[in-house]
Amino acid sequence: MTSEHEIEPHIFVIHGGSGDLARRKLFPVLYQLLTEEGAKGSCHILGVGRQDLGDDGFREIVKESFIEAGLPVDDDDSWSDSWCRDCIHYQQMADIDREGPALALRIREIEETYSLPGNRIFYLALPPRAFPGTIRSIGREGLNNSPGWVRLVVEKPFGTDLDSARELNHLVHEYFDESQVYRIDHYLGKETVQNLSVLRFANTVFESIWKRDRIRSVHLTVSESLGIGQRAGYYESSGAIRDMIQNHLTQLVTLLAMEPPARFDADSIRNEKVKVVRSITAIKPDEVVLGQYTAGDMDDEQVQGYLSENGVAADSTTPTFVNLKLAIDNWRWKGVPFFLRTGKRMPRRMTRIVIEFHRPPIAMFGSRNPVETNPNRLVITLQPDEGFHLLFEVKEPGDEMRLRTEELHFHYRDSFEALPDAYKTLIADVIQGDQTLFVRADEVEASWALYDPILEMDLPIHPYPAGSWGPPESDELLARDGTAWMNDYDPE
Ligand SMILES: NC(=O)c1ccc[n+]([C@@H]2O[C@H](COP(=O)([O-])OP(=O)(O)OC[C@H]3O[C@@H](n4cnc5c(N)ncnc54)[C@H](OP(=O)(O)O)[C@@H]3O)[C@@H](O)[C@H]2O)c1
Repeated sequence: MTSEHEIEPHIFVIHGGSGDLARRKLFPVLYQLLTEEGAKGSCHILGVGRQDLGDDGFREIVKESFIEAGLPVDDDDSWSDSWCRDCIHYQQMADIDREGPALALRIREIEETYSLPGNRIFYLALPPRAFPGTIRSIGREGLNNSPGWVRLVVEKPFGTDLDSARELNHLVHEYFDESQVYRIDHYLGKETVQNLSVLRFANTVFESIWKRDRIRSVHLTVSESLGIGQRAGYYESSGAIRDMIQNHLTQLVTLLAMEPPARFDADSIRNEKVKVVRSITAIKPDEVVLGQYTAGDMDDEQVQGYLSENGVAADSTTPTFVNLKLAIDNWRWKGVPFFLRTGKRMPRRMTRIVIEFHRPPIAMFGSRNPVETNPNRLVITLQPDEGFHLLFEVKEPGDEMRLRTEELHFHYRDSFEALPDAYKTLIADVIQGDQTLFVRADEVEASWALYDPILEMDLPIHPYPAGSWGPPESDELLARDGTAWMNDYDPE
């Protein structure tokens, strides 16, 4: 957000105001945004939670979150008592079904006291099981109707399969028009993800070769070195397909594969993205590799396997690793495999896309012993060390014809200061009413429709030791298409 956009006075209701997401992300980024825009008085934060915190208890939580985020609360300009008293509020709502009227009264009281025009944001920072009751309560009390604008922000996961996503969309649309709904996939808020469109559409050198007759395969990896920690309750019912593939990785595929939008606005872009998902053919069972980590060595430390993690059933078949192949059946991508891979307890935390180009059609160099050329590759690193590397072949100096792979590179760290937090970008867009970086109803349903069948398949779960790049079956899946992961490539 830049100061050319004025922040309109509004109330920012955070359902789940005492939760982890609110503390770690929402409060600090809201505060940074409002301070940068000189608009602290324009936003009234109303935390809603089941606990009896009171306004003062809640203000303490908010203050602690600022301290944890390294924001300067001791400075009067940053944390002034009057700002805190006037603009941070809390409403207990122990029972969503019965206490809707109290919340509605409180919202209207705040709006009246501070002469707010009725602009409202409802942010559901809640466990998904609490989404339906909260949406119904907002609707029952008529809070979705106001003289100002009203926006609903829904955290991920949006449904656990196609039926539940449809049901949730149906409920949301009972009270809100799609133009008021902001479904979060925080990957879309990352600078590096937004840059995928700029890389393609602001650089003809790339866009002109972004097609099947130039590109041989596309590899996407989101790897994590951590295990599941204390999140067994969530992860056991989710697994890697729901946790990473259906949302984040599929969003990356749509941005990589979409056609140039007619305009760079929310609906034009989202129209193109959903077309990509709808063009993906049914995923074949023998093109899906599921895995589960066993005990292994990570950075010289022995770590336990998934089945020994706290809260995991001894016979759990939840996959902690997935590698699958997508085929996009359209003019641009026919025949180009997109390999998606994600896993826990892999050697390092990394989000990377590799665009592998075709090799030259003939081996021209070295008349007696033809020299094998490596394919050109564009390696886009979304985290850590954001940037990209273009790999190409050069002749090694000397009489003999020998080729070597060299690279051109770009690192964000060399050119820019620290990248903004994804949540800061997303919240700024919600406040401005820009839906470009949010997932539309039809897109979320198309994505579930694609993955639902494999969630229902009885596929083998291959073990892989913690600290490895997954089961060997994953390498075999790529080898069938004559390609391979660039696991050892670790650019400087
Ligand atoms: N934490 C993250 O980093 C993160 C990242 C990405 C997405 N998300 C998503 O953000 C949402 C919130 O995550 P979180 O980690 O903040 O969760 P959390 O800490 O477990 O809980 C969030 C809030 O939900 C309230 N709550 C819990 N159960 C409820 C119920 N049945 N009815 C009404 N309120 C209930 C809690 O209120 P009380 O404490 O007052 O009971 C708490 O304030 C989830 O959808 C999650 O998937 C979180």
